[in-house]
Amino acid sequence: MAINISENGRLFNLHTKNTTYQFKADKYDYLIHTYYGDLIDDTDLYTQLSAVDRGFSGNPYEIGKEDRKYSLDTLPLEYSCFGTGDFRISALKVRENTGNQTVELKYDGYEVKKGLYKIEGLPAVYTDDGTGETLIVKLKDIVNGLSVSLFYGIIEEKDIIVRSAVLTNKGKETLWLEKTASACLDLPFGDYDMLSFYGRHNMERNLSRRKIDHGITAIGSTRGTSSHHYNPFVILAESSATEEFGRCFGLSFVYSGNFLMETEKDQTGLTRVLCGINPEEFSWKLNSEESFYTPQVIMSYSGHGISGLSDNYHRVIVENIIRGKWKNKKCPVLINNWEATYFDFNGEKIEKIAEESAQMGVELFVLDDGWFGKRDNDNCALGDWYPNEKKLGCTLKELGETIISKGMHFGLWFEPEAISEDSDLYRQHPDWALTTPGRKPSVARNQLVLDYSRKDVLEYIIDRMEDILSTVPISYVKWDMNRSICDKYSSLLPADRQGELAHRYVLGLYYVLEKLTQDFPDVLFEGCSGGGGRFDAGMLYYTPQIWCSDNTDAINRLRIQYGTSFGYPPRTMGSHVSASPNHQTGRSTTLRTRAAVAMAGTFGYELDVSILKEEEKQEIKEQIKFLKEHNELLFNGHYYRLTVPEDICCAWEFADRDKNEALVFSVCYRVEGNLLPLHIKPKGLEPDIKYMVSESGWYETEKDKEPLVLSGSAIMNAGITLPVPREDGDVCIIHIKNKNI
Ligand code: GLA
Repeated sequence: MAINISENGRLFNLHTKNTTYQFKADKYDYLIHTYYGDLIDDTDLYTQLSAVDRGFSGNPYEIGKEDRKYSLDTLPLEYSCFGTGDFRISALKVRENTGNQTVELKYDGYEVKKGLYKIEGLPAVYTDDGTGETLIVKLKDIVNGLSVSLFYGIIEEKDIIVRSAVLTNKGKETLWLEKTASACLDLPFGDYDMLSFYGRHNMERNLSRRKIDHGITAIGSTRGTSSHHYNPFVILAESSATEEFGRCFGLSFVYSGNFLMETEKDQTGLTRVLCGINPEEFSWKLNSEESFYTPQVIMSYSGHGISGLSDNYHRVIVENIIRGKWKNKKCPVLINNWEATYFDFNGEKIEKIAEESAQMGVELFVLDDGWFGKRDNDNCALGDWYPNEKKLGCTLKELGETIISKGMHFGLWFEPEAISEDSDLYRQHPDWALTTPGRKPSVARNQLVLDYSRKDVLEYIIDRMEDILSTVPISYVKWDMNRSICDKYSSLLPADRQGELAHRYVLGLYYVLEKLTQDFPDVLFEGCSGGGGRFDAGMLYYTPQIWCSDNTDAINRLRIQYGTSFGYPPRTMGSHVSASPNHQTGRSTTLRTRAAVAMAGTFGYELDVSILKEEEKQEIKEQIKFLKEHNELLFNGHYYRLTVPEDICCAWEFADRDKNEALVFSVCYRVEGNLLPLHIKPKGLEPDIKYMVSESGWYETEKDKEPLVLSGSAIMNAGITLPVPREDGDVCIIHIKNKNI
């Protein structure tokens, strides 16, 4: 049993394979958090909380008379409320019609259910076979009638707890939800660092590690998308924790819009972390008998370092977030024409690239931006989802069929949330764009955003996309979104519901994605937002892979993919070999560096292969052959970060979960005179097995050298020394294979 409830339904122990999460409804009916960490028994840890009468930390009315040591300002709480004496950051803030903002939640019972819970209209972690358990803890405010159900879904074997809250107005008067965190986690003891992932367009998800000190540390987004700037995934790690050692906690928000993840270290040294929709642009009118569902947070804990925590997230995303046919199917090797042609193409040029790439073994051709309306540049036509047959020289169906006749699949780019002012759609429906009354809207890439809170807008997009998907032989869609959203005002929502727009937008997005993915289950959807501007577990529920960054420079990608790997598995990161010199940075790298880096993601090409030299074409064939040989390992292997990308080389590894095989990749950033040895310690092997260790790859190396035979324990503990790199960006791939297989 993952959920143990004792002491007359008041002490809750949530056990997973390696972790325990405990809280208690105390004698005053407050829900107090007592423990999250390594697996322990059901011992009541409430007794271990320190009780001291602290000045300026008051007491609830009845309690204060008998116990001045009891304060909501110092206790670890399971779901903190605003206004009743807890002065730290609060999970819940509610306004009544009177203007009152005080809310106080008391324990009101529980329920346990088999299987994981679902959330209406929102993505959520699921299990294929209905396993898992759900605990629902009920709380209520006795004055205003607000009822809050805290949901805890448990996947025992993966050390995963998924949390969210449902708020129901059981009173007669309308309530206004002003802040509704999905989860509050109070860690009463210990010093922690916060690991978060910041960035910008073309340089997403850089790792930031900082000490959580007294005060508030927060990351978030008000851009309407989860954003390039901060990713909705954080790790709290003990200050001494490394990849392999120490305690760490993760929170991954299953949501693609505005979010806030905040931590506060309080006067007693307690660390609180909250995760939820960003209250900055949020206010939800909750009429009597209505409910509001918060998005889900995936929580996990590892007592053995950050690497173990990352693997928990990799596994839950692959097995319990990604759905449908593409959950277990490898993405075909694709070629995308964007960096090959930008808008400058016609049917003939496309066919030529397709023809050449098919001969090299590429399996899917993706036609990017520019195939519709009069879209010959990025100033116009978004919304006019009708093929430009003049430009293509044929119908889109005919083009698709031609590509298929070359033995490839056909894929198409859409940007369904955008509208250009210069478009037929805008001329017909100017009110479908988000703009604020009396003001000129802010533009980005000269485009506006469609009002996804409107049913008619959603129906139009579904209609246009379904028309194309059902008449053209398409097996892949790239779903793009190319700006941050401001001017968040809907011409259909009443004044007192404008604060709901940002969340309603995301609900609209999920509605369309759900409809399309259900109606076209064979189509592979890839998410994109100017690269990785919406790389989150919410999108991965609909799109099993996401274009990781518009920056295809192999050297920069090492850092972007490294940062992304903390919370997301490599197979979710779209990664392509593009031209050299690179279009974003101007840097030149070899074809083999670019391919090695792209193999740490869903592999593809994005360059004009029709102008490549013969030996380059030959090399691409070899790369695809190598990828196919090792695809299972790259797709399903256990991924390890072996170095930080600031060192001279960046190394990573894919290890087979049965421990029979591993591939280690290393890219040297820069050679130096009198270079020191590059030495790494591969992981995930069986200590007693003897392995053959040899250099591998599609290019000329010291391949003919006899492989070394080393034990797993020698490889993992003593490590291996890599060959001396000859130039910047030099690649080394080491294949480690069980000698007896
Ligand atoms: C975004 C995407 C690119 C490409 C362009 C097309 O920037 O991230 O990959 O599709 O749009 O306009």
